[in-house]
Amino acid sequence: MKSTADKVSELTEHTFGTWNRQKAWKTPMLITDAEGVYIYDDQGKPYLDFSSQLICSNLGHKNKAVIEAIVKQAEKLPYVAPAFVNEAAMEAVEAIRSVMPESLGKFFFSTSGTEANEAALKMARQSKMPAYKAISRYRSFHGSTPSSAAFTGDPRRWPSEQARCTIQGVRFAPDCYCYRCPFALEYPGCNVQCARYLDYMIAEEGNVAAMIVEPVVGTNGRLVPPPEYFPIVREICDKHGVLLIFDEIMTGWFRTGPAFAWEHWNVVPDILTMAKGASASYTPVGVTAASNEVAGFFEDEFFCHGHTYAYHPLAASAVPAAVSEYKRVMASGLPRKASRHLQASLYELADKHECVGDVRGIGHFWALEIVKNRKTREPFNVKADKISGKPLMTGKIAAEALKLGLFMFAWYDNLIIAPPLIVTEEEIDKAKDILDQALKVADSEVESTGVPASRSTEYAAK
Ligand SMILES: Cc1ncc(COP(=O)(O)O)c(C=O)c1O
Repeated sequence: MKSTADKVSELTEHTFGTWNRQKAWKTPMLITDAEGVYIYDDQGKPYLDFSSQLICSNLGHKNKAVIEAIVKQAEKLPYVAPAFVNEAAMEAVEAIRSVMPESLGKFFFSTSGTEANEAALKMARQSKMPAYKAISRYRSFHGSTPSSAAFTGDPRRWPSEQARCTIQGVRFAPDCYCYRCPFALEYPGCNVQCARYLDYMIAEEGNVAAMIVEPVVGTNGRLVPPPEYFPIVREICDKHGVLLIFDEIMTGWFRTGPAFAWEHWNVVPDILTMAKGASASYTPVGVTAASNEVAGFFEDEFFCHGHTYAYHPLAASAVPAAVSEYKRVMASGLPRKASRHLQASLYELADKHECVGDVRGIGHFWALEIVKNRKTREPFNVKADKISGKPLMTGKIAAEALKLGLFMFAWYDNLIIAPPLIVTEEEIDKAKDILDQALKVADSEVESTGVPASRSTEYAAK
């Protein structure tokens, strides 16, 4: 009889591991159970899930109401082609509309964030013909297919680009990254140059159809813009007739506090994409929401888009249940209290550990940026290290935390602290104790400077 370890090896031998050199896809952990904010390995060992998996299990694991809704739909009508309507999709649209602004009134359902962004790009480019360029930013991730990878500023784009698997027509704008300002300025004296530069950029480029942004940058840093940033961006886009696309695939569904991040600045995009939290990740769902104006274009024009699994009933069935669970959880007041506790705990850790250069975030969406030297802000690792396979300091910290019972997602320069919305203050304290141990791995290699950690999004994290 094969051992579990043999079965895992056999699986890795016959499958591609995502975003990795395949020789590194050898001994992944086998997860056999999950409940609340915990996942469990095949030995029954619990791990606090402090990244909500891929910042998607917003309601935690094994939510009964969502599971029941899926089971009911599986028994009634698991699949029907998208040329028909189905009751699950009808209810999902109604649930999404209950948290969307009126102006975003038309939806396309797919099964991932990548696809939600693909649909957004087609809508934008087709409705803005002959303008075709899309502006993105360097600190961004928008997906894995040719269009969404082309918009992606992070190093995952590079190999796709070399393989000519990205589309043409994307331009990158400077980031809104106060800790490492691309203009070497400081807020508020900077006059939000990163937003104002877009006016020049769009005018000089010509043929710009759209700009796509994560309203709070996710994997690439939990970069929360200052309050003026998006009102300025919206004004510039309007001036030039450029569509503004908000990729709310990570920021949506109460991750940053409100249902969607646009609410922080009351700046409504022309197109909004969501996935992950839309079903709290109980089923694969991607949604592209279009303004009535964008949608209106297609009344007489051919909408050249669709999938076999568009409006998939089983996928859609999780959405209304998840939305009502979000509303219940948010109404309890627990997430608001917990996010304040999380912020205070991370600030305390940053004060204590010299490897933390910057602590920033909002809601349940936080970053610890890890540096070798707080004064020079020299990082341990850079973008290219993610692709070259060089060991990452953030990876070492995350591995130590995992040994101690805490799962968190590590990017090449920062740790992603984004627990489910149901996390309690006690669970945060437990995670803090583990992080306190794990961060020592990097502290031992830091050049001591006596400079305190930066809190670059203090203006947002009230
Ligand atoms: C901001 C953002 N956009 C798009 C995607 C792609 O979503 P998916 O992995 O569901 O294709 C992700 C995934 O992490 C993301 O974080």
